Amino acid sequence: MSGLQVSRRNFLRTAAFAALTVPAHRATAAWLSSPQPIPPGPGQPSWLETLDFTPAPLSREDRVVVPEGFESEVLLRFGDMLNPAGDRYGDHNDYLAILPRGDREGWLWVNHESVTLPLVTGSWKPPLTLAQSSDCLRAMGGSALRLQRLPDGRWRPLLPDRRNFRLDGFSSRLRLTGPAAGSSWVRGAHHAIGSNSNCGGGITPWGTVCSGEENVQEIWGDLELGDPPLRPIHPELARPSEHYGFIVEIDPDASPRRRFFKHTALGRFAHENVAFNLTRDGRLAAYMGDDRDKQCLYKFISRDPFRPAAGDANRRLLTDGTLYVAETSLGRWLALDPAQQPALRNAGFDRARVCVHTRTAARIVGGSPLDRPEDVEIHPTTGDVFVALTAWQPVAQKHTEKYFAAVAGAIARLREAGGDSGSLEFEWEIFVPGSTDTGLAWPDNLAWTPSSHLMASTDFAQKPTPVADSSQSMFGNNFLVVIPTLGPRAGRVFRFAVAPCGAEFCAPTVSPDLQELWVNVQHPGDGSTGPEAWTSHWPDGGNALPRSALIAIHKT
Ligand code: FEO
Ligand code: CA
Ligand code: CA
Repeated sequence: MSGLQVSRRNFLRTAAFAALTVPAHRATAAWLSSPQPIPPGPGQPSWLETLDFTPAPLSREDRVVVPEGFESEVLLRFGDMLNPAGDRYGDHNDYLAILPRGDREGWLWVNHESVTLPLVTGSWKPPLTLAQSSDCLRAMGGSALRLQRLPDGRWRPLLPDRRNFRLDGFSSRLRLTGPAAGSSWVRGAHHAIGSNSNCGGGITPWGTVCSGEENVQEIWGDLELGDPPLRPIHPELARPSEHYGFIVEIDPDASPRRRFFKHTALGRFAHENVAFNLTRDGRLAAYMGDDRDKQCLYKFISRDPFRPAAGDANRRLLTDGTLYVAETSLGRWLALDPAQQPALRNAGFDRARVCVHTRTAARIVGGSPLDRPEDVEIHPTTGDVFVALTAWQPVAQKHTEKYFAAVAGAIARLREAGGDSGSLEFEWEIFVPGSTDTGLAWPDNLAWTPSSHLMASTDFAQKPTPVADSSQSMFGNNFLVVIPTLGPRAGRVFRFAVAPCGAEFCAPTVSPDLQELWVNVQHPGDGSTGPEAWTSHWPDGGNALPRSALIAIHKT
């Protein structure tokens, strides 16, 4: 193998070496496959790997239900004070990432996707005043907190701590990078103000974190698809919608002025998350879903190879490369490159426009419309790419009332030709469909245990009174499952936890000591219809207002 050829296996080892300076935990499959746990824990994650638990029962209760012998603990909740400057933990915690820095400290990153309007503004529906609009934008974005390993070995966030900081939708300044930066397609801008609707994410091989700006049209509308804003922001805060819908990189170790980047080269759409891998010739590959019905699956491949010794200078890999869209019937990646696609040139696309009107470009070259491709994650040992198709259905009853209520969704598996992320051909199949038989429904978030079990959380609608034949009527509250991917139990669904009323679980993540599962409980009480009719009072109980929170689940 030549110096430039880095096999995926070698990448894993390279990643482990890089981890000596920029360790990253639960980043991608790659980081989880490094030969040594990072950092070494005091024991083995036996229960997650052996599935040594009695599956949790279905539940409609307003609490977190876990298997017998386990308990959950709230670590952080909406509104907690993060630092002496008064910044607060935002609403709707979604993705979380643990970035160890040495074996006793690190960073915790958490996305804040949306807001429960009455909790943030006191109002149950728009129109919003200037102050209410500002508060909504401040409650979105993300939180960075210092993590510390306690003397007993557990890892916990430090708060308040002066190093903790927020990315928000109101005042944070983010640098635009890549082909669209400064172009007419972003109205000449080199910076954007704010990041909002931050859903899933991923950890870069150089130890920073990425956050997907997902349903930004809810705030800003979208000119490309003609979406009006769902929650109109006060006119004094109006901003160009073309500045939103990107993959945002956060470098928590950098100075505040050099911390936030919007990478336009990775396209503009409802970014669910991003999963990184290396191609066989050492370039960086990034897989991404666009969470909207009839939208597509994407892969970005950097122009240049990843260089472990270059540290965060590898950031430039996310500024120059080729974006591909998946055509799943023949199994091909189609380049969204005007130089290779006359149809794009004829439609007036240059490289910059591809980065902003990405969905239109994907449609022109023949990308396959999928059933809401949400989370995308790479298998720790096989390199297969698993994709949550949240709204997949095997039969043609789409867009009927029945469809929206029914048990739906699937987890698909994409196998690159030759096992190479740089390949332009792949096989595509359904791995587990959602049904009452399989025990899966509307899969949204995906993640791995350190070996190869897939964790998946469901996200189906929660109403005060369940709609007949809906997933809620059959399963109750949303839940979290573990699915072996190899061996005799491959494809079987084991339910591990059930969420409180109205909530969904986001970003299941194994703790650095491998003894806990951290997971965000997002929007308890969703679907509530008024101040006297909250469906949830979690986590505080009694008459307390519900609050999104990060929990740790461990053995009692
Ligand atoms: Fe933010 Fe597609 O879940
Ligand atoms: Ca999601
Ligand atoms: Ca969701």
